[in-house]
Amino acid sequence: MHTRELIKKLLRLTKPYRSQLVVATVCMVLVSGLASAQAYMIKPLLDEIFVNKDRWLLNIFPLVLISVFLLKGVFNYFAVSMLDTVGQKIIRDIRTQIFVHVHSLPISFFHNTPTGELISRVINDATLIQTAVSRALIGVFKDMFQVFGLVGVVFYLNWKLALASFIFLPLSFIPVAHFSRKFRKLSTTNQQTVAQVTNLMHETITGHRIVKAFGMEQYEAKRFAETIDRLFRIIVKDIKMNSLQSPLMEFLGGIGITAVIWYGGHQVITGQSTPGIFFAFVTSMIMIYNPIKGVSNINSPVQQGLAAADRIFTLLETQPAIRDKQGATTLPPFREAIAFNNVTFSYDGKHPVLKNIDLRVRAGEVLALVGTSGGGKTSLVNLIPRFFDVDSGSITIDGHDLREVTQKSLREQIAIVSQQTILFNDTIKNNIAYGDPSRPMAEIIAAARAAHALDFINAFPDGFDTVIGESGARLSGGQQQRLSIARALLKNAPILILDEATSALDTESEREVQTALENLMQNRTTFVIAHRLSTIRNADRIIVIQEGRIVEEGKHETLLGKGGAYKMLHDMQFAA
Ligand SMILES: Nc1ncnc2c1ncn2[C@@H]1O[C@H](COP(=O)(O)OP(=O)(O)O)[C@@H](O)[C@H]1O
Ligand SMILES: [Mg+2]
Repeated sequence: MHTRELIKKLLRLTKPYRSQLVVATVCMVLVSGLASAQAYMIKPLLDEIFVNKDRWLLNIFPLVLISVFLLKGVFNYFAVSMLDTVGQKIIRDIRTQIFVHVHSLPISFFHNTPTGELISRVINDATLIQTAVSRALIGVFKDMFQVFGLVGVVFYLNWKLALASFIFLPLSFIPVAHFSRKFRKLSTTNQQTVAQVTNLMHETITGHRIVKAFGMEQYEAKRFAETIDRLFRIIVKDIKMNSLQSPLMEFLGGIGITAVIWYGGHQVITGQSTPGIFFAFVTSMIMIYNPIKGVSNINSPVQQGLAAADRIFTLLETQPAIRDKQGATTLPPFREAIAFNNVTFSYDGKHPVLKNIDLRVRAGEVLALVGTSGGGKTSLVNLIPRFFDVDSGSITIDGHDLREVTQKSLREQIAIVSQQTILFNDTIKNNIAYGDPSRPMAEIIAAARAAHALDFINAFPDGFDTVIGESGARLSGGQQQRLSIARALLKNAPILILDEATSALDTESEREVQTALENLMQNRTTFVIAHRLSTIRNADRIIVIQEGRIVEEGKHETLLGKGGAYKMLHDMQFAA
C-alpha cells in the first residue's frame, strides 16, 4: 500500500476522536510557545537585571517565570494525557475490528494463516500503530512548533548570527533521511519474526503432550532459540541504528554551537550585541536540539507504524470468500430433503477432492459415509454448513441453494460433533450452552443427562461450574466428547453431522459416547462418518466414498452381499 493511502486510512481511524485531538494539539502549541518564551526571558534577565541592576524587574521576574512554568506544566499534562488516551482508544478500536473481521473469514483462511500471525496483528501491530500516531502528533505539533518558535526567537534576537548558524542545522538532518528507509524494512522483518515466535509458542503449548511424548523438548527448544536469536539480531540492528542517530546529530549540532560561540562572542566584545542577547541565543539553540531530536525520532516509530498499518489494513481488507449474498433469505425450518446436485469441489480450484456427487438425503434419514482416509468424507459434510463453496453443481436444502440463504439461518439448523472436540477454557455449563448462554439450567442438565455426561459432571466438586482447562485439558477424551454431544443436543438442530465422533476413543468410552450419540440422533437427519463399521450398521443408507466419488450405495446387508468396496472395508475392519 502507498504511504499516502495508509495515512488516509489511519486518519480515518482518528475521526471519532477529532475534537480531543484538536484540544491536545492546541495545548501542545501553547507548550511550544511558552518554551520559546522561557528562552527569550534570558535576555532581560542578563541585560536588565544583572547588567543594568533593575530592581523592579528583579521583583517581577520570578512571578512571570513561575507563571510560565505552571502554565507550561498544565498544558503539557493535558496534551500528553489526552493524546495517549486517544491513542489507546484507537488501539482498542483496531483490536476489536480485527477480531470481528477475522471471525467473519471462512475456514479456508485459517488453513492458510498461522495463528501466531493473527495474534501478532492484534497485539503487536496495534501497539505499533498507537506509538506511531502519538509520536507523529507530538513530533508535528509539539516538537515542530517548538522548533519554529525557537527559530523565531533566534532570528528576532540576532538574525545575522542566526543565519550563520543555520547553515549547520541542515547537516543534522542528513542522518534522518539516511536511516528512514532502513527502519521500515527492519520493522517488517521484526514483525515477521515476532509472529514466528508467537506461532512456535502457540503450536508447542497446544501440542505440549505430543512434544513430551516424543521427547522433542530439546528439538523444540532449539527451534525456538533459533527464532528468538533471529529476532534478537534484528532488534540489535535496530538498537544500533537508533543509538547512532542521536550522537551523530549531537556532534553535528555541537559544531554549530561552537561556531555560534565564536562568532557571537566576537560580536559582544566588539559591542555589536549584548551578553543577554548572546545567552538567550545560545539557550535557544540548545533548546532547539531536543525538539529536533524529537522530530527526527518520529521516523523510526512512524515507519514501523506504517508497516504495521499496512499489515493490519491488508488483513482487514481480506474479503471473506464466503459471504451472504445481497438479499439472501432466511432458510425456513428444514422439512424435506438435502440434495447434492452434481457437486464438484476442490480446495485449490485445481484438484477436485469431490467429483460429480449426486445425493439426496430425506429428512429423518441416517446416512452413513464410509471409505478409506482421504477419500473426501469430511470435505463432503463440510459443504453442508457452507464452510466451503462448491466449484460447480449445487447443494440445496428443501430446494433452497445454500448460496441463496444467510449463513446464520443455515448454520442454526446444523449441529456438528467431530473427532476434534472444541471446548473452551470456561465452565462446563458455558461450554454446553455455547452459542446460547441464556438457556435455562434445567435444559442444560437434561442435555448433559442425555449425553451421558451428568454423572461425571456431578462428580466434580464444582459440578457444572467446573472450569475445564484449555481445550478441556482436565477431562478425558470420552468426557470431552460427551460435552460436545451435550452441546449439540442443546442446540437441537434438525441436521446433525457426526464426523468420526468416536474414533479417538477407547472401546469403553466409545460405548458411553455411542449411547449418547443415539440419543442425539433421534428425530434428526444425520450424516455420520465412522471408522468403526459397527457404529453405522444401523444407518438407513450407507454411501462409500473413494477418491471423491460415491462408488457404492445401499444398506449394510445389501452392500455386504455385493462383495464390492464396502465388503472390503468391512473385512479390513474385522481383520484389524
Ligand atoms: N484444508 C484442506 N486444504 C487442501 N486439501 C485438503 C484440505 N482438507 C482436506 N484436503 C484433501 O482433500 C482430500 C479429502 O480429504 P478429507 O475430506 O479430509 O477425507 P476423509 O475425511 O475422507 O478422510 C484429501 O486428499 C485431503 O488431503
Ligand atoms: Mg475426515
